[in-house]
Amino acid sequence: MLNYVTTNPGKVREATEYLGDGVTQLEFDYTEVQSPDLGPIAARGAREAYRHAGEPVLVDDAGLFVDGLDGFPGPYSSYVEETVGIERVQTLVAAEDDHRAAFRCVIAYCDGEGFDATPDPIDRDDRIAAAATDPGEDDGEAAGLPVKLFEGVVRGRIVEPRGGGGFGYDPIFEHNGKTLAEMSTEEKNAISHRGRALAKFAEWFAER
Ligand code: IMP
Repeated sequence: MLNYVTTNPGKVREATEYLGDGVTQLEFDYTEVQSPDLGPIAARGAREAYRHAGEPVLVDDAGLFVDGLDGFPGPYSSYVEETVGIERVQTLVAAEDDHRAAFRCVIAYCDGEGFDATPDPIDRDDRIAAAATDPGEDDGEAAGLPVKLFEGVVRGRIVEPRGGGGFGYDPIFEHNGKTLAEMSTEEKNAISHRGRALAKFAEWFAER
C-alpha cells in the first residue's frame, strides 16, 4: 500500500484517480523546511513520513510561481493562501504587466530502500536535490534514507477567480482558456503539475 502523505483531500482525490485504489491517505503533518526549491522540502518530508509510517510514502509539495512577481509565492504558497488569500494574490498580479505563471509539483517517494543509479540526467538532478536536504539535528537515522523525486509543471496565467471545483489556487490559474477550478478532476490531471508528476512516478513505479 502506498501512503499519500497529506492533510489535503483534494490532493488525494487527484492521486487516487491517477494511481487507483493502491493509494491511501496518511494524515501526517511533516515539517516543511524553508527552501527556495520544492525538491528539498518534499525529500525531507518523505524521510520524516517514512520514519513515522514504516511503509512506502509519497509526499507532494506544490507551489504557484508567478513570472511577474519573480516566482512569488513559490514555496510559500501555502502560507500566502492562509494569510492574504488567493483573491489578493490575483489583485497583486493584476497590477503587473506579466500575468504568466507556473504551477509546480514535486512528488518524493521513500520506501527505505535504495534506487538503481541511471545515466538519466533528471535522475542525477533528483539526487542532487534530495542530497541538498539539510537533515537537521532532529532527523536522526532518517537522514540517509534514499528519496526519489518526480516533478511536474503546468504553465498558465493568473485571472480573476472562476469555477467551483478543485482547491487552493485553482480558481485563479487559467490554462488553455479554462481555470483549473473549471475542470473535472480527470481534465485537471491530464494537464496539471500534479498529474504530470504522478504520470512520471507511475511509470517508474510500475517497473520497480
Ligand atoms: P502544499 O503542497 O500542500 O504545501 O501546497 C502549497 C499551496 O499550493 C497551498 O496553498 C495549496 O492549496 C496550493 N496547491 C497545491 N496544489 C494545488 C493545486 O493543484 N491547485 C491549486 N492550488 C494548489
